[in-house]
Amino acid sequence: MNDDVTKRVEALLKQMSLAEKAGQLAQISGADWNQGPQPEEIIRERGAGSLLWLNDTKRFNALQKIAMEESPSKIPILFALDVIHGYSTIFPLPLAMASSWDPSVAEQAQAVAAKESRAAGLHWTFGPMLDIARDARWGRIVEGAGEDPYLGSAMAAAQVRGFQGDDLSDPERILACAKHFAGYGAADGGRDYDPVYLSEAQLRNIYFPPFQAAVRAGVGTFMSAYMDLNNVPASGNSWLMNDVLRGEWGFDGFIVSDAFAVSNLAIEGFARDKKDSALRSLNAGLNMDMASNSYIENLEALVKDGSISMEQIDALVRPILSIKIKMGLFENPYVDETLLEKVAALPEHWQAARSAAQRSMVLLRNEGNVLPLSNELKNIAVIGPVADWMEATEGPWMVFGHQPNAVTVLQGLRNKLPDAKITYAPGPDIRRDIPHPFGEFDATAKRPAQKPEDAEAAFKAAVEAARNADVVIAVMGESHDMSGEFASRGSLDLPGRQEELLKAVSALGKPIVLVLLNGRPLSINWAAENIPAILEAWQPGSEGGNAVADILFGDVNPGGKLPVCFPRNGNHAPLYYARVTTHAPESSPNYRSRYWDSPTTPLYPFGFGLSYTTFSISNLKLSSSQVKIGQSLTVTADVTNTGKVAGDQVVQLYIHQKWGSDSRPMRELKGFERITLQPGETKTVTFQLGPDELGYWSTNAGKWIQDTASFDLWAGSDSLASLHAEFEVTA
Ligand code: BGC
Repeated sequence: MNDDVTKRVEALLKQMSLAEKAGQLAQISGADWNQGPQPEEIIRERGAGSLLWLNDTKRFNALQKIAMEESPSKIPILFALDVIHGYSTIFPLPLAMASSWDPSVAEQAQAVAAKESRAAGLHWTFGPMLDIARDARWGRIVEGAGEDPYLGSAMAAAQVRGFQGDDLSDPERILACAKHFAGYGAADGGRDYDPVYLSEAQLRNIYFPPFQAAVRAGVGTFMSAYMDLNNVPASGNSWLMNDVLRGEWGFDGFIVSDAFAVSNLAIEGFARDKKDSALRSLNAGLNMDMASNSYIENLEALVKDGSISMEQIDALVRPILSIKIKMGLFENPYVDETLLEKVAALPEHWQAARSAAQRSMVLLRNEGNVLPLSNELKNIAVIGPVADWMEATEGPWMVFGHQPNAVTVLQGLRNKLPDAKITYAPGPDIRRDIPHPFGEFDATAKRPAQKPEDAEAAFKAAVEAARNADVVIAVMGESHDMSGEFASRGSLDLPGRQEELLKAVSALGKPIVLVLLNGRPLSINWAAENIPAILEAWQPGSEGGNAVADILFGDVNPGGKLPVCFPRNGNHAPLYYARVTTHAPESSPNYRSRYWDSPTTPLYPFGFGLSYTTFSISNLKLSSSQVKIGQSLTVTADVTNTGKVAGDQVVQLYIHQKWGSDSRPMRELKGFERITLQPGETKTVTFQLGPDELGYWSTNAGKWIQDTASFDLWAGSDSLASLHAEFEVTA
């Protein structure tokens, strides 16, 4: 903290009552379902650190006015909301943006989201979500960057830069929040909120790195996770918050709990009651209580009975005040109520969303070069339940009150080929078996269930539409309430009767393309063998339909790569490439017997994605075949576009430490670069491997180490890369 900020914080602390300090440690609910004391009342009496679940510019100003004019110390409120992949302009899902393997895509998207949401009066978003997720059944896999800590760290830093910029006082940026600290992605069985058991080595080598990258990028706030981590709930976990985050990483911002996570400590069988919950979270270093009012209700009693000292409380309040000062909120607490309409969904924002969607899509299959399609086509059938569904094009986690406004795939195709006959037949509807508990996100509750006879008629109509067309574009996948929070699944199959419809249509023998709109890897085993062209479009946002059409008709060459592997079956999860080698490795004849009823290799590996052109990667060179502990090695490789059109390749570098203090994964991503090449063009990519890439946290040593050992190294276009070299790390 600089001197001036420190002085202002200390002066405020001196004048604040304990009730006001409790107010600053509280994030109160602004939702209309709120049953407790109303925000006006709380703010007038003691102020509030923050308010969430409100998206109403006028009301922000009205509440801020109470804080600035009527509350005792006149401390501004931070208005917070989940702005996850766009505010007015919706960008592709975070998992999709990770598929771009281009951190600048995520940075630009979050900069736009920051600008629009700040204009609405928000100061703070609960993002980026940095949970590594290796279990595709877990619904929240959609919110993160996938399975890998190296890619995850790059996306984490980029999103923090996008939201916050370089300076917290920037009026076009918002405060970011690295969530959910930590380990939430490893929920048992992929079931949302279930307990997590992770070794310290797994936490430090796999789950922590994106969070540490966010700290290095200057993230202002953290959110503690809901779930129980090795039998200590994350929101009451002093090791996570005090020791690792503050002690080891030097984080000097503040930590907010997940919603109601403080009072949940009692439900989880950790704390005795709400008062004990508050004490356990305060002692664990959790600054701000989201929505449960546990701090407000209990702080005074806890101080009075000596359970907690005023020094401890002041230490928790300090970073909250300091961030408000640094953001300039004391000087500029209000928002110009005319700003949003000038800023929301500007053409350049939509252009950025289109480009992000184009860069995020992954071509999974293109047998016989079915794609790109000719723009001379005259008669196209579009089938599938998500082809013309705006919400399913935008995906989960829309801000409160958002009116869907996406270009659907059907609309995008019509925009691309205005003169063609495009017939749309959605086929049978898809819906969750168990409705989503959050009404706001619930598509199932909003759409009446289709009667079986109507579903049958819709099925037949889709087949007929396909029979009469020259080309069939099947747009299938998941609705927006099928991934996200409270949206885990046991199966990864296409929901409903989609695969059955795909089979019936494919039997007609027409050229057919499958476009997937979904929030997680899907087990599309049949399609992967039988549908010649498959484009993973994810849920691509406002401009999604135009971006799909750009790719299908060859105006844009797809270059995205999977940030997660696609399991063949939900029962195979968790599945990830960076496994530790076993005594029956992949090269051994016994490898195939992992299960006797199905192969356990992924359907599509991590890092995989095709292009309309071809590439070769060659000439792998190391600056030396030996490197001393603590020193760096330079790796170069040449990439050539060997095809006929310009395209992007993501060159990926993987290493494997062959032996050491601990066993190490058979492959780990340690470098990547997305480059554009004209036909015939060659570029050289360069990677550095130093102590950060070659070291790891060792269970045996109980600390970060670098071993002397031999390493394999591969460069290529996915995690099965075969271009190989070796080097040695020496003492
Ligand atoms: C989610 C968080 C979110 C919070 C506030 C919780 O249910 O787990 O990710 O930021 O709600 O809306």
